[in-house]
Amino acid sequence: MNHTIGVYGLGVMGASLAKNMLNKGERVALYNYTPDLTEKFSEEFPHESATVFYDLKPFIESLEKPRKVFLMVTAGEVTDSVINSIAPLLDKEDIIMDGGNANFKDSTERFRLLKEKGIQFLSIGVSGGEAGALNGPALMPSGDKAAYDEVAPILEKIAAQVDGKPCCSYIGTEGSGHYVKMVHNGIEYADMQLISEAYQFLRKVVGLDVKEIANIFSKWNEWELKSYLIEITGHILNYDDPVTSQPIIDVILDKAGQKGTGKWTSKDALDIGVPASIITESVFARYLSSLKDERVEAAEYLAGPKMNCQVSDKDEWINLVKEALFMGKICTYAQGFMQYKQASDYYGWNFRLADIALIFRGGCIIQADFLDSVSQAFQSDVKLKNILRAPYFQEKANAYEGSLRRVAMKAMENGLSIPGLSSSLSFYDGYRASRSGAELIQAQRDYFGAHTYERVDKVGIFHTVWEGE
Ligand code: 6PG
Repeated sequence: MNHTIGVYGLGVMGASLAKNMLNKGERVALYNYTPDLTEKFSEEFPHESATVFYDLKPFIESLEKPRKVFLMVTAGEVTDSVINSIAPLLDKEDIIMDGGNANFKDSTERFRLLKEKGIQFLSIGVSGGEAGALNGPALMPSGDKAAYDEVAPILEKIAAQVDGKPCCSYIGTEGSGHYVKMVHNGIEYADMQLISEAYQFLRKVVGLDVKEIANIFSKWNEWELKSYLIEITGHILNYDDPVTSQPIIDVILDKAGQKGTGKWTSKDALDIGVPASIITESVFARYLSSLKDERVEAAEYLAGPKMNCQVSDKDEWINLVKEALFMGKICTYAQGFMQYKQASDYYGWNFRLADIALIFRGGCIIQADFLDSVSQAFQSDVKLKNILRAPYFQEKANAYEGSLRRVAMKAMENGLSIPGLSSSLSFYDGYRASRSGAELIQAQRDYFGAHTYERVDKVGIFHTVWEGE
């Protein structure tokens, strides 16, 4: 049988994507570096349009030209060694797609190296975990547009669909698809951090129990906050541990893991000059969480206020937290899309920000109704500098900034750590400050290092001979 596509890598994500392709009518060749997963696939999912291969050469030879090979393997060196093993078996114009969580710089390098050999390389951000891969992920493909056009009928068919449109569109050249996925993950980190702070506030400051909070998240999921992460938070908080019968949240160790994409987002924001403080604080919060033993000791010897669960009007505070969380989300996406905008200029990718927001409406971890408004903001004004400038977000920010301020102050009064919410507020106040305080930093730089400064009243570069210098 001639196959329309080959999937290399049959771990959870690769196998799920392959099943998705088969369910959508593709003829799929399957290969894994070790035979165990290949056997597992053929036992679990026998299909008339699927052929499993235990050797690379016949796997590649079974593909229709231009051959299309979708890699779903571990990012980094494994991806390079897989590419090195299949490239000699391919002809010019054949297409390799990498769906792993690759670093965009590696993807750009691979794109260039393979182009020299005449092989097309598409780096494809894939989001949505196992369920997304199986039922419809969000896809962020980049590389040469002509190569994308070859595979678009398959990718757009297997992607999540919202309002009849696929959550997949061509991002740009080089590794820009993996860049978009990277910042998606950075936003995911911030979204998760904000939600965890809202949960802690409701529990420790408002004094609600876990099931009450689960219900609140379910209700919030019917409001402007409606999103995958809010929905699963309600489910998680409702879930009891089968061993102890306690809420499972109380038996999960409070140390957050990470694979690195949030950190990459922050590093890139530092490199290209974007104030992505909420994402970066969320990465740091995970590092701080990992110091469990030190935190437990410090809880004994460092002073701070006792949590006060005596708020007089619980309903009022629940509403304030809801609005504060939405406000934090607005600030997070403001930063995330500032990063996309800056990256588009810096790397020369010409991003269509409205389309990126549309991809995120379904299939991915940050999927949310909210993204319709983000997309509309950029559709109405392609040159929009910041979503906070768009009428919808202006109106929401003006309505909810007071709630964020009250929740942040209350949390601080009670000694609750809120790096996500507080950096959202600092970003918001900093962004709307017509005079930032940086005038003093400039004066200090000039004082100790003659670094010069600009003036508000004259054009040019100035230096003061400071008295006593
Ligand atoms: C997705 C997820 C996915 C993965 C994260 C987890 O969009 O499907 O983002 O890519 O779950 O990379 O990242 P951490 O392990 O760093 O939290």
